[in-house]
Amino acid sequence: MFERPRTGERAVLVRLGLGAPLDPEDLSEFTQLATSAGAIPVATITGTRQRPDPRFFVGSGKAEQIRLEAAACEADIILVDHPLSPSQERNLEKLTGKRVLDRNGLILDIFAQRARSHEGKLQVELAQLKHIASRLVRGWTHLERQRGGGIGLRGPGETQLETDRRLLGQRMKVLTQRLAKLQQQRETGRSARVAIPIPSIALVGYTNAGKSTLFRSLTGEQAYIADQLFATLDPTVRRLKLPGGTQVVAADTVGFIRDLPHELVAAFQSTLTEAREATLLLHVIDASDPRRAEHMAEVDSVLRQIGADAIPGICVFNKIDRLEEEPRIDRGEDGTAQAVWISAARGQGLELLGLAVAERLSRAVHRVRVQLPLTAGAARARLYAAGVVLHERSLDEALELELALPDEELAALLRVTGAKLVPADGDTLESPGTEHRHSAGWR
Ligand code: GTP
Repeated sequence: MFERPRTGERAVLVRLGLGAPLDPEDLSEFTQLATSAGAIPVATITGTRQRPDPRFFVGSGKAEQIRLEAAACEADIILVDHPLSPSQERNLEKLTGKRVLDRNGLILDIFAQRARSHEGKLQVELAQLKHIASRLVRGWTHLERQRGGGIGLRGPGETQLETDRRLLGQRMKVLTQRLAKLQQQRETGRSARVAIPIPSIALVGYTNAGKSTLFRSLTGEQAYIADQLFATLDPTVRRLKLPGGTQVVAADTVGFIRDLPHELVAAFQSTLTEAREATLLLHVIDASDPRRAEHMAEVDSVLRQIGADAIPGICVFNKIDRLEEEPRIDRGEDGTAQAVWISAARGQGLELLGLAVAERLSRAVHRVRVQLPLTAGAARARLYAAGVVLHERSLDEALELELALPDEELAALLRVTGAKLVPADGDTLESPGTEHRHSAGWR
């Protein structure tokens, strides 16, 4: 067990505008990150620079200002909203006599507090150890380590702080092996989780967009909601009936954020399996946020990174109560529902959302031939249970099934089970994602 978080640390926040004036929105997001980690911001120091100073990241005058301010406010910690090199962090700690944590360390800390699944915890621990290892090269002797945890010192990784790099390396190796094993188990277990015949939707979106609120409005469940970043780290999955009667499996996922630390990308991806395997993505957006376009682009880029960009999606513009907009559906030129404007908190527009989802899910059914790996027995059983198998024949290393399926479910089947689509001339198509373009051929 690791030590419990000690909240209420007094923090000095530091954020610079690099090559441009400081954006107040950046500062407010950073303040929210700090409070999400449990810190109490007691002072904020800002400034602008062309480029980071190699020694302290900030200039030496600014560093002195931080030292004075931290002493005057009796701060416990200095939080810097930029990635610091280990030596910059150390130099600032030496100068100020306070603990210094950079943006990556801060986000890692929040993830460490929020991870609940076994795999999520292992991933976060590994990420923390990697982060710490780079900072242990020259030891922590310049600063007396504070006991009892604290921001950046807690979570599964903290017990390793006092050990040497060799032990750290060993622990990282064990974690990597365990994770590899878990991933292997997941691969083999995947076919058992095919969301057929019930389509699955996953709620994705920038942190604080209102995903958990929407999830709760739809399911009537007490999903954890807080005005904190990353309140949900591990996905929650529920079966539900949408307004209008469509049955789906819905998953709430972790919030996205810009500049996610490199070490966390893997951890983050494992929590997004639900999104990767969904039939339809609901991209929840805080429509009242002045930076919503930027946030949407960030989410799209993460979806690309995890290979979920080919999944059909609907933009859900949430918090319209703050904009005095009415609930509505925006449609594309072909009449497809592209976006729905709602207020999850007030329950406005949920009927429209149900309608849009139902429309997007009820695509025409196509006759297709797929080759299913012999290991995907559970998927085969589900396909039979759903009554969608028209014909079956055994091949040497696979089963060839003729199915009647909507496009989205076919896409999910190919993604989740590793099944291959058989084109009319008998060759299999290796690449998932091409199925939409070719589906006309199977009608
Ligand atoms: P993460 O867990 O960080 O990813 O956040 P989330 O996207 O799950 O957001 P959550 O549902 O926790 O909501 C964030 C904040 O937005 C909370 O304070 C909600 O009360 C608020 N909120 C959610 N929906 C609405 C809405 O329709 N209108 C208004 N005004 N506030 C909302």
